[in-house]
This record gives sequence, structure tokens and C-alpha cells, in this order.
Amino acid sequence: MWNEELKFTAFFPHSTFLVPNSTFRLVRVRRLQDMIVTIDGPCGSGKSTVARELAERLGFEYLDTGAMYRAVTWKATETGVDLEQDTDSIAELAQKVRIDFYDGKNGRRIICDGRDVTTAIRSPEVTRKIKYIADEPAARKAMMNLQRAHAKRVGDIVAEGRDQGSVVFPDAEVKFFLDADIKTRAERRLSDFRSGRLDIEFDEVLEDIRQRDMADRARPVGALRCTESMKKIDSTGMGVEEVVSEMANIVRQVASSC
Ligand code: C5P
Repeated sequence: MWNEELKFTAFFPHSTFLVPNSTFRLVRVRRLQDMIVTIDGPCGSGKSTVARELAERLGFEYLDTGAMYRAVTWKATETGVDLEQDTDSIAELAQKVRIDFYDGKNGRRIICDGRDVTTAIRSPEVTRKIKYIADEPAARKAMMNLQRAHAKRVGDIVAEGRDQGSVVFPDAEVKFFLDADIKTRAERRLSDFRSGRLDIEFDEVLEDIRQRDMADRARPVGALRCTESMKKIDSTGMGVEEVVSEMANIVRQVASSC
């Protein structure tokens, strides 16, 4: 967490550093502890939207870890890795891949090994194949290392994904588990698809969510779970604004007591 008046120094990586004071003399100040907020939850719970808005409201970085799994899946498909058989190549690729986030004028872009894959990683083919990456322990470990390194680099962060509070940042200052009933989640997904003009029916989306819930909860490593240290928020019947406000209040309370 940064002291308000020190925000402009956010790119300094060390815990103590010199900044000019009001009389333009250099003074030594202490960087306060960075704050990690995690949002775990199932498909369609609204994690991405809420995490992005929460990060913006708090002035934190936002990390979309689903996009990282998607980028690795895209890269594996692009380079012809046999996802069903070749776990060694999956592991190697996940360890070598470079994933960057870049905020352009059309919103956040995802760059994978120098290619802008923002649109490509949302294709039904990538979504269908992600399980081969998400189920591979070595790939999960590589993603975890990247996520931890990213958090170290950027400081205050809101990280969302199935395993962020449970595995990647178990000591995060605030951990949320965002849920909603399955029909609500399917409706949200359907409206996302329709705004992207994909021709798909409610029952198909509902069944897809059911399958993904089962796979996410049964995964031997990094399975989706709500732990005791997470604050559970059920967003059924709640709008984005309401969820974000509730989370922001909790984060501020925790920050002020640190
Ligand atoms: O959040 P999104 O739908 O983009 O995530 C795509 C898939 O990536 C999820 O269905 C899940 O299987 C996997 N994933 C994961 N761990 C994360 C984020 C995503 O296994 N932290």
C-alpha cells in the first residue's frame, strides 16, 4: 500500500529511496507494504469485471490470470504441441513463454511472445483446450512463478483467478471468493457471448459452466476452493457497482488497520 502523497514514486523498486521534498531537498522515505488482493471464484461469477473495476477504484494493478492460461493455450496450439499427449512440451512452453499486459487506447492488450493475442485467446477453440494447460502441474507452477514475479514488480495488485488466494498468494492481505448461482452465471456468460455476436443458446452455456465447474473443482493441483480465510461474496442479484463497493470498503478497512 502506498502512502497517498508518495504515489508518484511507485516505480522505484526498493524499500527505501530518495525523493525531492517541497523545498527540493532529497529526503529518505519508507515505502509501505505492497498490498495484494485476490479474487477467486467459478466461471461466470464476474471476477474479471469486478477485479478490473476494483483495481481501478483503488489505484492498484489488475492481473487477469485466466488470460495467462489462455495465452499459453494459444501458443501451444499455434506451435503444434500435442496437448493430449505431450506434457513435456506443455511444461517447457509454459516455462519459456513471455506474457505482457499493455494498456492501449482500446483497453488492456495481452501480448504473448511479441504477438497481440487479446482477441485470439477468447476463441472457442482456446477455451475448449485450456484444460490441458490448467491440469498440467508443471504449467501451473510456471504460471504461479510468473504471477508472483509480476506482483513483486508492480506493487499493489488485484489478482483474479481460480487459485489466486488459495495457492498463489495465500498470505494476501485481502482474499475474496466471488460466487453466484449457476443460472445467474450462465445468463452473464450468455450476454457476454451475445455482445461478441456468438450464436449460442442458454442450455449450451449452462452445460458448459457445469462441466467447467466440475473440472475446476476436481483439478489435483490448483483446484477452485473457498478457504476459511476468504471473504465470500455471493453476487446473485447484485450489480457490479454494489460488489465493487463492498469489496473496496473491506480493502480500505484492512489497509487502514495495517
Ligand atoms: O477466467 P477465464 O475464463 O479466462 O479462465 C480460463 C480458464 O483458465 C479457466 O476455465 C480455468 O480452467 C483456467 N484458469 C486456471 N487458473 C487460473 C485462471 C484460469 O486454471 N488462475
